[in-house]
Amino acid sequence: MSKIFVDACFRKPTPYTPVWMMRQAGRYLPEYMKVRAQAGNFLNLCHNPKLACEVTIQPLDIVGVDAAILFSDILVVPNEMGMHLDFIKGEGPIFKDPIVTEADVDALIGGEEAASKLTYVYETIKLLKEQLPQDKALIGFTGAPWTLATYMIEGQGTKTYNICKKMMYSNPQLLHKILKKVTEVVKFYMEKQIQAGADVVQIFDSWAAAIEPGMYDEFSWKYMVEIAEYLKEKYPHIPVIMFPKGIPAFLDKVYGNFDVFGVDWGTPLSLAKEKLGSKYVLQGNMEPCRLYSKDATTKCVEGIQNIMQGEGHIFNLGHGILPDVPVENAIHFVSECKRVSKK
Ligand code: CP3
Repeated sequence: MSKIFVDACFRKPTPYTPVWMMRQAGRYLPEYMKVRAQAGNFLNLCHNPKLACEVTIQPLDIVGVDAAILFSDILVVPNEMGMHLDFIKGEGPIFKDPIVTEADVDALIGGEEAASKLTYVYETIKLLKEQLPQDKALIGFTGAPWTLATYMIEGQGTKTYNICKKMMYSNPQLLHKILKKVTEVVKFYMEKQIQAGADVVQIFDSWAAAIEPGMYDEFSWKYMVEIAEYLKEKYPHIPVIMFPKGIPAFLDKVYGNFDVFGVDWGTPLSLAKEKLGSKYVLQGNMEPCRLYSKDATTKCVEGIQNIMQGEGHIFNLGHGILPDVPVENAIHFVSECKRVSKK
């Protein structure tokens, strides 16, 4: 059976424009909170294939999206490269021994060896393939090397990126060494997700906007393209989605072999369509806070449909759904996307 989401990624005709939401499995769902409590904490949930599978499927049943995104986190990759990871309540992720020197990079586990340690992710994907309805796609994912490196160097989330930028401008070789090592692991990681059964993969460059536009290619995009092109060469039937958040000044310079470009909410969709719409399918891009109001949601969905006309498009938010969004508003978003785009 063909999957509407995969068809849309390849610009094939679909009965309506498919829709999913970044961070669709998460804290806005009481059902998620229940399973997380059962797991004890967030990382335990990522490590438990049976429970991770359960929360991956929840938004399909509850909200009605057309694709499931694997429940995991981007930071399991540096974790399995040997960096100790904690999620502290109210503070988010922490690596207590961030990378400072070249010796720290050399000490990290690299390549296929690191990717092979993420067995719980592949197990979750295999369980999902047994349990997902045939017409729903399963999206695997990774963080972009740059976004992962920001956590590996800063040790936590950051507003200023001052530690990794100090490295970028004063010791770029060391930053490239980190980015190369992460890129190698991620290639194997994505490949193993595909071999386990992922139908589509997305590369999240959530912190793309931290890099000045003239240097974005050198420190992030070229590594994302290297991963995408490695996958497209070996698995041309698997769509690759790129999501670099917040880089409208780079739209003119986007290149590479991939299928879908994720448009963040700060980039006008009409501009993305003009620059990239003939080459790539576009995904997005409702401002996630519109989900606080059903009216604001409907207006935006109609506006997006007006621009894209159901061609070369996948509905999504322009970044992740927030934890205090009412579930019924998320349901409203998904049903409005289907209503306005029904052929
Ligand atoms: O539904 C989905 O999208 C799948 C699951 C998913 C999670 N994280 C679950 C999660 C995905 C795709 C991610 C990606 C991720 N993780 C990104 C890139 C995506 C983006 O939003 O830009 C980033 C930057 C991270 C790193 C990360 N993970 C942070 C900064 C945090 C803490 C912030 C917060 O919201 O508390 C996490 C934790 C996290 N990842 C949660 C979930 C559901 C919340 C954990 C919990 O309290 O249950």
